[in-house]
Amino acid sequence: MKFLSTDEVRQAYLDFFAENGHTVIPGASLIPENDPTVLFTTAGMHPLVPYLLGEKHPGGKRLCDVQRCIRTQDIDEVGDSSHLTMFEMLGNWSLGDYFKEGAIQMSYEFLTGVLGIPVNMLAVTCFEGDSDAPKDEESAGYWKKMGIPEERIGFLPKAKNWWGPAGKTGPCGPDTEMFYWVGQGEPQGNPATHDKEWMEIWNDVFMQYNKKEDGTFEPLAQQNVDTGMGLERVAAVLQGAQTVYETDRMKPILDHVLALSPRERMQGNHEMETGIIRHARIIVDHLKAASFIIGDGIVPGNVDQGYVLRRIIRRAIRSARQLQIEATGSFTPAIADIIIEQYGAAYPLIASHSKQIRDALAHEEQQFGRTLTEGIKQFERVAAGASGTISGIDAFHLYDTYGFPLELTMELAAERKLHIDEAGFASAFAEHQKLSRAGSEKRFAGGLADHSAETTKLHTATHLLNAALRKVLGTHIWQKGSNITTERLRFDFSHESKMTPEQIQKVEDLVNWAIQKNFPVSYHVTTVEGAKKEDAIGVFEEKYDQITQQKAEGPERSRGVKVYVMGDKEITFSKEICGGPHVGRTGMLGSFKIQKEESSSSGIRRIKAVVEGGPVEIEVAGEV
Ligand code: ALA
Repeated sequence: MKFLSTDEVRQAYLDFFAENGHTVIPGASLIPENDPTVLFTTAGMHPLVPYLLGEKHPGGKRLCDVQRCIRTQDIDEVGDSSHLTMFEMLGNWSLGDYFKEGAIQMSYEFLTGVLGIPVNMLAVTCFEGDSDAPKDEESAGYWKKMGIPEERIGFLPKAKNWWGPAGKTGPCGPDTEMFYWVGQGEPQGNPATHDKEWMEIWNDVFMQYNKKEDGTFEPLAQQNVDTGMGLERVAAVLQGAQTVYETDRMKPILDHVLALSPRERMQGNHEMETGIIRHARIIVDHLKAASFIIGDGIVPGNVDQGYVLRRIIRRAIRSARQLQIEATGSFTPAIADIIIEQYGAAYPLIASHSKQIRDALAHEEQQFGRTLTEGIKQFERVAAGASGTISGIDAFHLYDTYGFPLELTMELAAERKLHIDEAGFASAFAEHQKLSRAGSEKRFAGGLADHSAETTKLHTATHLLNAALRKVLGTHIWQKGSNITTERLRFDFSHESKMTPEQIQKVEDLVNWAIQKNFPVSYHVTTVEGAKKEDAIGVFEEKYDQITQQKAEGPERSRGVKVYVMGDKEITFSKEICGGPHVGRTGMLGSFKIQKEESSSSGIRRIKAVVEGGPVEIEVAGEV
């Protein structure tokens, strides 16, 4: 087996799939752009849903990338040997190109050939079959052909060997998963017989079904492959590291945290030692995730991604307190510095946002630090008077007055074997704030964009708005964020001052004018350089991180982008790099109304707008 650094594994993966005809595409932001139904990108396939459903991808039918992902549903397991809140997913896709045989062949070749993992340390699982789809003997057959012995092939039900849809509906299918032996002694059985001793490292999903509203599965027009490999886990395997926290990139961060804790006082006490390690891992994991989320433009807040961010920062601070590390404003930024040192080369985004990351962390740490001690005292008072359950009002008071996320109160309560009246908390919360936290939690667990007519229209309206802003306010306007729900669009852009009512009216009128002109909408495929040359606007700089930038060089790797044009022979109203989809003609938007113009953060304004009165059924813009 080869010893490869984390950076080398990433590179080896992209190289291997590029050599096998895949276009290396840039990883997307952790914050889904035009997806109202999820808070974070949780898999490499999220940004690719339209293409899995049949939309043409400019990179062709074979793609690969490195995607930073956030999985908050794993948060309780963080601190064990293999779970992380944020991880890097190496993924390769076939959009109606190769299927089971090709995917399995390449997975096998990469694991055993490129990485040199001994075959006897590997096992796989396949779907055991049910009324929706048959037992996946086909995949098992290919594994056998590759040289995986029968006893290392397990069959498991849907709960384990089926992936997606990420939401309620959408692309999904049976999967085959690859595992590495982490048990004691010689490898035994397979994950179906020895679940705990095999660690999943890679998942090949055969997305051949579309799950419908009524819960049934219909075959997709194209048979796709969607894979995801956990970079940190594979790096741990190749480096002989016991846990994902001890790889070349993570260990320096962990060691730094441990060095800050007065450990000697606790030495010899096994329970305390284990507790220290767990808290230290939580700090590393949470502050790493937090740094990347801030790098992707979010600041701590009370709703949506901002709330998740606040929760993980506060959780890390609480773990620091448990380790007797002082955290009153400079602890989290110092750890962020080390995180940036380790990851800034692969992710220039966090290096270039280091100031924002440090400032946001310092601010949150100060704010939370001020109330944490008092809050814990308050919690102790409440806990002393509680018989089994802490009331929703008390939990809400801790939230509202002391900034305790509900999860923190729940954790403290669990340590004392107390429960929280969650429903009571939720109603107290809803009463005090219109935006209920439950709403954002639901969204978070929820699924992917439906790419419905509503979101497609609003997406097209966003392009018109962007273009209109540049015409009315000037070309210093750049998109700084976009978020679309089925009801409205939200667009953040660079502009120093508040817009005047006249300017707002002018922008709105201009968009409506473009809608009335009923301009055709179409796209063509070109390179980033080509798009820049023809003056297409777009957020290219930030989106194309260094890894993919390097990989994209060379003729067969030249990266394609789609440029969407809205206009006619005389007027090009909007020309913008974008993945789509968009409506076929601007007239389908009906009419456009700006509902709000406000500050988003320093130097950035935010517009919320709606469209009304267009057709229910839309056509999607095609290629020219
Ligand atoms: N989308 C698949 C996963 O996340 C590959 O496991």
